[in-house]
Amino acid sequence: EKGGYKHFMQKEIFEQPQALSNTLLNRLPLDAESIPLDLPFSDADLRGLSRIHIVACGTSWHAGLVGKFLIEQLSRVAVEVDYASEYRYREPVIQPGTLLIGITQSGETADTLAAMKEAAARGARTLAICNVMGSTATRQAEATLLTHAGPEIGVASTKAFTTQLAVLTLLALKLGEVRGTLDPDLKAGLLQGLRELPAHLERMNALEPRILQWAQRWKDADDFLYLGRGPCYPIALEGALKLKEISYIHAEGYPAGEMKHGPIALIDKNLPVVALMPHDAHREKTLSNLQEAAARDGRILALVTEGDTGLAAIAEDVLEIPAVHPWLAPILYTVPLQLLAYHIAVLRGCDVDQPRNLAKSVTVE
Ligand code: M6R
Repeated sequence: EKGGYKHFMQKEIFEQPQALSNTLLNRLPLDAESIPLDLPFSDADLRGLSRIHIVACGTSWHAGLVGKFLIEQLSRVAVEVDYASEYRYREPVIQPGTLLIGITQSGETADTLAAMKEAAARGARTLAICNVMGSTATRQAEATLLTHAGPEIGVASTKAFTTQLAVLTLLALKLGEVRGTLDPDLKAGLLQGLRELPAHLERMNALEPRILQWAQRWKDADDFLYLGRGPCYPIALEGALKLKEISYIHAEGYPAGEMKHGPIALIDKNLPVVALMPHDAHREKTLSNLQEAAARDGRILALVTEGDTGLAAIAEDVLEIPAVHPWLAPILYTVPLQLLAYHIAVLRGCDVDQPRNLAKSVTVE
């Protein structure tokens, strides 16, 4: 059932090209057509949205943060992202025209369901982004966008996350299209990028031997710091969560620009700093943050766009990631971080698929 893999997590990491293709199937338009997303909301409904609230937990919450970036950039609707466990108890202000998006792989997470219910009771329209057809979230929400990742068995979420990012990209494009805020060249670029993503994801598998070397070198570290900016900031959070939950190493994700407001005090020669630096509008800023980290002896493990030599002199190792539209980088840059966490956990003898204290779906508060 693990199809030749040692663990479900490993299998699910490698299934991502297929999971992405399945999720995008029939949802990418031909040329000038509009995005064929099957939603029960009319165009007038979508044009009438005044704001979006996203609620989720854990990895799905990280997807929400990337979703906020994409939806705001492409459709100019203001988006708030909250932990479901906070949202449900903070008497959220729901104004007319609010859409609540609950992101949940399982569709059974108690806090997410309760937050969705709370918003609906206060008058929000509701949409679930979910991987399990027929789950409570899909029955509870007015509308559902399914990710077609296939069953995810490993407790650490992998392919469910990258497919959530793909669906959120499509939704952001759809909103932008209907609301007239979407630049046609940008739309064409992102759609082309989505089409090419499964093939790029296949190429990521070739990075595994290098990532295994990182894992061997750093498996006994006490802490890891993950840094990113813009849409890759949530990927820094996600990389840190993956490492924490399956290897039990303390890790923090930070927006790179926040480093000098505290975490920089942690940096010394024993701290691996995993840096996400795609060639995007944030590159120069991230580069200068990383130079500061290197000046304090931080050991930088960098992910950069193919051909970018900007970190060669200061990083301990640099992995080159295929060039994609910068707003699709989160999907690609996630994969090496999943593999890094996986290999460190295996080397430390941890139970990768069933980490201690964790359950696949958290159906109690
Ligand atoms: O099923 P959900 O997406 O609602 O689950 C949310 C979190 O419990 C889940 O993402 C958790 O953080 C994972 N173990 C992360 O790998």
